Amino acid sequence: MSTNKNYVLAIDQGSTSTRAIIYDHSGRKVIESYKEVPQIVNSDGWVEQDPNEIWNSVLSAIASALIDASIHPENIASVGITNQRETTVVWDKVTGKPIYNAIGWLSKQTNAIAQGLKNDGYEDLVHQKTGLVIDSYFSATKLRWILDHVAGSQKRAENGELLFGTIDTWLVWKLSGGKYHITDYTNASRTMMFNINDLKWDDEILSILNIPKKMLPTVHASDEVYGTTENYQFYGVSVPIAGIAGDQQAALIGQMGFSKGMVENTYGDGAFIMMNTGHHPQYSDENLLTTIAYGINGKITYALEGSIFVAGSALTWLRDQMKIITSVPESRQAAKRSTDHNEVYVVPAFNGLGAPYWDQNVRGAVFGITRGTNSDDFVKATLQSIAYGTKDIINTMESDTKLTIPQIRADGGASRNSYLMQFQADILNIPVQRASDEETTGFGAAILSGLATGFWKDLDEVQSIYEEGKSFTPDMKEAERAKLYQGWQRAVRATQAFKP
Ligand code: G3P
Repeated sequence: MSTNKNYVLAIDQGSTSTRAIIYDHSGRKVIESYKEVPQIVNSDGWVEQDPNEIWNSVLSAIASALIDASIHPENIASVGITNQRETTVVWDKVTGKPIYNAIGWLSKQTNAIAQGLKNDGYEDLVHQKTGLVIDSYFSATKLRWILDHVAGSQKRAENGELLFGTIDTWLVWKLSGGKYHITDYTNASRTMMFNINDLKWDDEILSILNIPKKMLPTVHASDEVYGTTENYQFYGVSVPIAGIAGDQQAALIGQMGFSKGMVENTYGDGAFIMMNTGHHPQYSDENLLTTIAYGINGKITYALEGSIFVAGSALTWLRDQMKIITSVPESRQAAKRSTDHNEVYVVPAFNGLGAPYWDQNVRGAVFGITRGTNSDDFVKATLQSIAYGTKDIINTMESDTKLTIPQIRADGGASRNSYLMQFQADILNIPVQRASDEETTGFGAAILSGLATGFWKDLDEVQSIYEEGKSFTPDMKEAERAKLYQGWQRAVRATQAFKP
């Protein structure tokens, strides 16, 4: 058995699944394995997961990848991690037992805590310090909730008996047999407790929330070696744990979004759009989030982030609820068959509208239907809504930063839809380059890991192994673009006017 360190292993721990992906030195994906992770949900919008189930899914994904590719763990040069962000775990420092389920990023059980902070007038303070808007989305209110609801936990946290972590922290702690309690800048920047200007946990916010600092992990760069795996936790070998980034940041890295003004959009169930804004935090006038894109080579790079709540999930809605299509890929043919002159608008505001509208109380709507409208037109309008929502955010990014965006890099499930990609380029009047491999998140984590250990020498070498995907060039007249987009804006305004 050769002991050459030929591969980098990326763990991509997401909200519903865990992937283990192995890359070789040329950046080729050798194997990917996938395990589902159950969510514990209720009708009040709570979303929780068992942290041990998350850990087990990681172990089993790694085992499947190694076995299926016949790779010995000795041949792994390092393990990098990318993860669902914000999701919060608290565990006992000695036994390693979580004191409560992981509270998921989507979970709404801490809305009242977030509202309380807003009522107390902390919005500006939190925005200036963390770059975020006060919301139950971020870890801080979830941590406060656990300390409020698990008997005795506040006291135990004050005594230094409990540890907090986002999923990266939890996995490093498990992989290392409880040796390292760390996170990276990108994950810390999503907790609503981290000051993105002075790069420290913020004492004032911690005191407002009464959170003991001693339970927080130490914060590191994204391209560091943090420690090594404990051999009993990693198939008998001790391998460097190196490279961490939250999943949307990892996607930006995996798409080589290293220069200021570069934009990456993950078209998943929702769409997350990240713009590299360089080495100084750029604050938004329209409530886009200011966040840390990565800390590489001893330097912090910031990003603006906007999200659309409904993107690919509008297509699964067409399939599962509306039963207009039988599979998501079919939406492409349906859109191509449609002969409607783009006069139908679907506004899929199932959970309200995010940036730049920020209107929680609206519900979705459809406009412009006639006796001649058919299901193909409806599918096309739904696909177009994803592109219009992206344009709303891109416009906001351009006006916040005064930068001109040269290109959008696209990844995620719905980016496979060529109709959507072409319409996106047309409506933005910006070329869209689709990733050659959808799994940019895992690739981002692998890059960080490889940079940390010297597996890849530097960013130049990393850029040289990047494979460009298909590019979609704008092909629409300006008058047509303006007319269509105005129609979308009118549809959104009318949707907002109609509150249930
Ligand atoms: O901020 C939430 C984000 O990290 C999404 O995670 O796993 O649903 O793609 P995931």
